[in-house]
Amino acid sequence: MSTAYLQASGVEVRFGGLLALRDCSFTVDRGRITCLVGPNGAGKTTIFNVITGFLKPNEGSVAFQGKSLDGLTPQAIVATGIARTFQNLRLFVDLSALDNVLVALPAQAGEEPIGAIFRPWHVAGAQKRRREEALATLEHVGLADRAHEFVRNLSYGEQKLLTVARVLATGAELLLLDEPASGLSAGALEGIMALLRRLQSEGKTLLVVEHNTRVVQQIADEVLFLHQGHLMATGSPASIISDPALAEIYFGGAI
Ligand SMILES: Nc1ncnc2c1ncn2[C@@H]1O[C@H](COP(=O)(O)OP(=O)(O)OP(=O)(O)O)[C@@H](O)[C@H]1O
Ligand SMILES: [Mg+2]
Repeated sequence: MSTAYLQASGVEVRFGGLLALRDCSFTVDRGRITCLVGPNGAGKTTIFNVITGFLKPNEGSVAFQGKSLDGLTPQAIVATGIARTFQNLRLFVDLSALDNVLVALPAQAGEEPIGAIFRPWHVAGAQKRRREEALATLEHVGLADRAHEFVRNLSYGEQKLLTVARVLATGAELLLLDEPASGLSAGALEGIMALLRRLQSEGKTLLVVEHNTRVVQQIADEVLFLHQGHLMATGSPASIISDPALAEIYFGGAI
């Protein structure tokens, strides 16, 4: 049997008496867009927190490309090639879009402060390259013309694109996006869907929390349906969306 790209095995998370995740096992295939769906409080963000090292599960483990992530810090997990966005964006609103991307770029060799004293030309060159890289990342998500704008002046849709730019800046291959399409206008929604498909065509793997069934239908190769911390079903978007039992859980039958 070949090794799964991302494998969660028997993950359990307790918050006091609340079982936020129970016996949660699933895989994410390389190069695919997997959508994680389920009602509010199902445990979707909690799964992201476990995969990215923000939360240590009470039971179970996660492996990426055959290597266990258990016990690694969030920074160490980013270094393995996994990066995530946050449901509440977590941008620096008093910095420019460009600076928000710059701080997400991995540190380069030769960036120690001592280098600025003894080899200032070298540091200046490195900084220029970093700015170019950050600008290219903004361009990639369609925000190049907003690079020098303060984040608080960006529209909500632009801020969402910026969160994607920040995960791209880390160089990650597996992107975990927590509700990248929620709260967007129809136009911004089309833009983000096109971006996610483009990232997939460029070789990225995406795990996306998404509530909008139209978005799920349009972008997902595979759907994981979570309910009360339990993985109830996995399958194609069509099979999940047409399942009356799941629709009852998700929408009270009103699909
Ligand atoms: N740090 C925490 N302490 C206590 N309870 C928590 C904590 N984080 C999450 N929970 C609880 O765990 C459950 C799962 O939360 P989670 O945020 O993973 O849900 P979700 O599926 O992302 O929901 P939503 O669609 O609203 O974002 C909820 O009942 C939530 O209240
Ligand atoms: Mg959530």
